[in-house]
Amino acid sequence: MEKTIQTKMITIDPQSMDLAAIKTAGDIMKAGGLVAFPTETVYGLGADATNAKASEKIYAAKGRPSDNPLIVHISNIEALEGIVEDIPKEAYVLAEKFWPGPLTMIFQKNDKIPYETTGGMDTVAVRMPSDPIARALIDAAGGYVAAPSANTSGRPSPTTAAHVSEDLSGRIDMIIDGGAVMIGLESTIIDFTEEIPVVLRPGYITLEMLREAIGEVRIDPGLISADSKQKPKAPGMKYRHYAPKADLKVVEGETGAVIDEINRRTAELTAAGKKVGVIATEETKQAYIGGIVISIGARDDEEAIARHLYAILREFDNLEVDAIFSESFVSEKIGQAIMNRLLKAAGHQILEV
Ligand code: TXA
Ligand code: MG
Repeated sequence: MEKTIQTKMITIDPQSMDLAAIKTAGDIMKAGGLVAFPTETVYGLGADATNAKASEKIYAAKGRPSDNPLIVHISNIEALEGIVEDIPKEAYVLAEKFWPGPLTMIFQKNDKIPYETTGGMDTVAVRMPSDPIARALIDAAGGYVAAPSANTSGRPSPTTAAHVSEDLSGRIDMIIDGGAVMIGLESTIIDFTEEIPVVLRPGYITLEMLREAIGEVRIDPGLISADSKQKPKAPGMKYRHYAPKADLKVVEGETGAVIDEINRRTAELTAAGKKVGVIATEETKQAYIGGIVISIGARDDEEAIARHLYAILREFDNLEVDAIFSESFVSEKIGQAIMNRLLKAAGHQILEV
């Protein structure tokens, strides 16, 4: 068994930043330690990205496969120029438009970033977050913070400090509680190491927004196909990620038929002694007659749906349900990212009604 370490929990108010606390957290990372912190997307588990040993600690704390590269977080554009080769002009256009913010860009790396941080790859993923705590912390840690989502590998990403604590308490040095995150889904990833830039993971910055800014952008075919024959290019996207413990199925079709199907299956499983969870919307939550029903938000409020998805999957884990049925959501705009994560969590089990 891994030796348990004392995890310090501190709260920082982003409106009136406690600079002494930020410095303490930065010093922990400078000394090779691990600090979890809020970003606008999800909570990250940070370490000094230029320190090979510190990156190795991230993999150990998360139980993450060592071939799955980390994202390097920076706070200014000069920092990008310090660690990568060949920044195309389209990347500067996106940086200008979407940084700081929920966008990650991939480039050829230089020697400053060790292979331990990139899972052995010659490329590096870089993001400049907008969250003020994250930005202050990156500066305090020396400018380059490697940070995957701060969950145990395979669990839904954390959107609150309590989620981080659930997974990583006793395994990392510090957790900074900065409140619930704004977006709730991980950043969009775009790869600039190919002729035509490719989206490897959909997120809050949509394909349409990227195309409008720089023209031609492809989407990784490994992302679209449900079968695993097409291997996604982002190593992390191949794992059954974001997964709740229960068997999750997404039910698709006309609303009335979806409700009927979920009610029928819930009744059946309940009669067999199973505990069932239902992911409903504000419009439909009253229509379910069994199971534990949680509303994810109003159907047309994509931002609320994005913000609540992971917390609901975690809540059903804590309630120890055996099965979860979820309504399906539109896959436009940020809906692309919502359905990408929901279908991955479901292992692509879809019931068409
Ligand atoms: O919003 C986010 O991006 C959050 C916050 C903390 O910033 N971070 C995050 O990191 O989601 P993580 O490690 O959970 O997901 C990173 C994804 C993985 O799927 C990984 O395989 C992919 O990015 N990735 C990282 N570096 C890559 C590279 N050089 N080439 C291809 N994929 C890469
Ligand atoms: Mg992750």
